[in-house]
Amino acid sequence: MIKKCLFPAAGYGTRFLPATKSMPKEMLPVVDTPLIQYGVEEALEAGLTEIAVVTGRGKRSLEDHFDISYELEHEISNTGKEKSLSGIRHLIEACSFSYTRQVEMKGLGHAILCGRPLIGDEAFAVVLADDLCLNVDGDGVLAQMVKLYEQFRCSIVAIQEVPLEDVSRYGVIAGEAIRDDIYRVERMVEKPRPDEAPSNLAIIGRYILTPDIFALIEQTVPGKNGEIQITDALLKQAKQGCVLAYKFKGQRFDCGSAEGYVEATNFCFENIYKAKTAPQSRRLEAV
Ligand code: UTP
Repeated sequence: MIKKCLFPAAGYGTRFLPATKSMPKEMLPVVDTPLIQYGVEEALEAGLTEIAVVTGRGKRSLEDHFDISYELEHEISNTGKEKSLSGIRHLIEACSFSYTRQVEMKGLGHAILCGRPLIGDEAFAVVLADDLCLNVDGDGVLAQMVKLYEQFRCSIVAIQEVPLEDVSRYGVIAGEAIRDDIYRVERMVEKPRPDEAPSNLAIIGRYILTPDIFALIEQTVPGKNGEIQITDALLKQAKQGCVLAYKFKGQRFDCGSAEGYVEATNFCFENIYKAKTAPQSRRLEAV
């Protein structure tokens, strides 16, 4: 059973400057909820209650968000505003949170390695909170992946088809299709040019990793952009054993880019916020 979910959240978020100059990208609100909260909700829905966060300098607000604010609670107690905090209160009660710091930003692979003391020797999930994944009609993306892990017991990356001109923003896989939505990974290239991409199947920010990945990251030298890439370690794992790539069901928004962020905001406003804030009578009509 997977219980732990790691959130690498130490990156600089340079694509979203100036908003991210003194505020973590993961705290950007989509309508009324910060990105990291959507990620933790998805983890909890998948049964993962031990949340481990890799933070960095200037990221204290992440820790404060998953804590009680007594002054605020006192201020709004017995008012209609209390219900705005019910979602986050539920997460604080249902999950445990632990934190560690990545002191130098040496890439996603390195950030995951920094999380090792919080994870130990067990399989775990990874969520990149700036990829907002929603599946309003069924299981969330992590829940889908946890079910697959229970069947296959190996590392799994979530993938989606992207236009060929966009592949250079992603890790890209190629492999043998073992089901219409699952590939056994044979090749993996980080941020390829369109003419060197092995496919248009792009890795997005959801992973299930088996703990042998840590030793493989340790052996990984800096790759593309001088960063320690998780894709390089995953390719080694795929060659030694098995890594699956899973075409998830649902929507994914790249909230690290302005376009994806605006799309996510419109989607969440229509599909989540309006339902949540509709007066009781309108909610009953909708049923
Ligand atoms: P991104 O590639 O989105 O990098 O990282 P970034 O630095 O956050 O954003 P840009 O590209 O400069 O705008 C993917 C995820 O990996 C984490 C980030 O916080 C993000 O969740 N990350 C990346 C780390 O934790 N440490 C790193 O050294 C790099």
